[in-house]
Amino acid sequence: MPERITSLKDGAACGTKPAPPCTLVIFGAGGDLTKRLLMPSLYNLAGAGLLPEGFSILGVDHGEGSDQTLRDGLTKTMEEFSKDPTSEFHAASIDPKSWGFVRDRLHYLKGDFEKPETFQAVKDKVKGSAVFYCAVAARFFGTIVDGLGQAGLLKQEEGTFRRVVIEKPFGSDLASAQDLNARILKQGDESQFYRIDHFLGKDTVQSIMAFRFANGLLEPVWRREYIDSIQITAAETVGVEERGGFYEPTGALRDMVPNHMFQLLCMVGMEPPNSFDAEAVRTEKAKLAQAVQPIPPEDAVRGQYTAGTCEGRQVPGYRDEPHVDKSSVTETYIALKLHIENWRWAGVPFYIRTGKRMTGRRTEIAVLFKPAPYKLFEDTPTDDLRPTVMRITIDPEHGIGTEYNVKVPGPEMKIGRVSTSFRYNDFFADTPNVGYETLLYDCMIGDATLFQRADNIEAGWAAVDPLLKGWPQADVAFYPAGSAGPKEADELLARDGRHWLGIDGKTD
Ligand code: BG6
Repeated sequence: MPERITSLKDGAACGTKPAPPCTLVIFGAGGDLTKRLLMPSLYNLAGAGLLPEGFSILGVDHGEGSDQTLRDGLTKTMEEFSKDPTSEFHAASIDPKSWGFVRDRLHYLKGDFEKPETFQAVKDKVKGSAVFYCAVAARFFGTIVDGLGQAGLLKQEEGTFRRVVIEKPFGSDLASAQDLNARILKQGDESQFYRIDHFLGKDTVQSIMAFRFANGLLEPVWRREYIDSIQITAAETVGVEERGGFYEPTGALRDMVPNHMFQLLCMVGMEPPNSFDAEAVRTEKAKLAQAVQPIPPEDAVRGQYTAGTCEGRQVPGYRDEPHVDKSSVTETYIALKLHIENWRWAGVPFYIRTGKRMTGRRTEIAVLFKPAPYKLFEDTPTDDLRPTVMRITIDPEHGIGTEYNVKVPGPEMKIGRVSTSFRYNDFFADTPNVGYETLLYDCMIGDATLFQRADNIEAGWAAVDPLLKGWPQADVAFYPAGSAGPKEADELLARDGRHWLGIDGKTD
């Protein structure tokens, strides 16, 4: 079994030993992901001493280039990103030693992902262990894996490994995800495929497991007898920006729900695994995802943003974004009610919402506990007793807060609402992290805990499949940019006598 340094880390990728020697082959070396996230992550890993001496990178792409042009180009983008406060990677300066370590190991190969000779050329250059990273558009995932398999690049000689990292979106519905799984598994074993979901690279997402399973206080009440409902929110203020071409056929449901939102759902809802071994954790996550009932269209609200004011700025509606159809009905917002049919959660609704151009940025899981069993304070001037709420915040702050009722000081028994909160930054040093460090490192050491297994991916798609099948006819509700989403989403909860918590992070 591969050595896991610590699966629940209190910093970025913070193993203690360098990964084993290997070549990282990046298909899509000229792309955005390579520039924005992979290079800064490798730089941070080099800075932490986690890359081995025998490490090299082979960038493959269709454009003309050489080792030197790749090195110069990526040095330039590293510098640009480090100065851009809106990029994931911003640093006061770039450490020449760490960047030099990465830069001097960069090599370039011009190649067409659809031609067998590209993979023969890769084979001539790659000896020993290798990680093949598909940093390309989804339509190439199957083609690249076929190319690797047919060239014999996925054969693992004694003492070496050959692994493939596949980005999202993994399929666009259940049938296509099943087809892609079947296709890649013809070329290699499940243990060789690392399906990435970048939410699992977020330390705060990983720490949900620690919070739940390293504290005896929570597990007894983490169940249907004590929990009223759970709300999972991923609200963004950004619009689709330049990604209209990708977003039009995708929409918020496919883009966020069966992958990112389901990862949060699994973390908060899974049973305790027997160990933190990758298979034990992934089995529990898959079981939870498989218990999610297919979502009927009446439990879903689709929204699309219109022009409005977001973060003090006038912004256009979705239909006026570049590469978007003027009469598009693609959803930029989705709200869902989910039922999980298992012993722990039967009868507890899970409400999920995610949208672009909303009033604030907030990724959060809110656990709403059942109210006190009877009104002990009936004869006193109390406010309506609201439930205890626990909020696990992933973005923009990283922390956990609890809201509950206490007595307001004074002669009357008046109940007031208060909160206590913990923020990671108050306790732990910030480590440089753009979010892919742990994932890259784990792949190199062979720890698949934070990657999605085929059954987990397919369970996510199976739950949303009824919605996708009914999509072409489905209505889209409009909401102004900078708002909390369409009113129809409020009605979804109002029908159950509940309401969404605010996106501003204020006490409910
Ligand atoms: C990506 C989606 O996977 O996740 C984007 O394609 C979305 O549309 C992004 O904006 C959200 O990730 P994060 O880490 O910024 O919350």
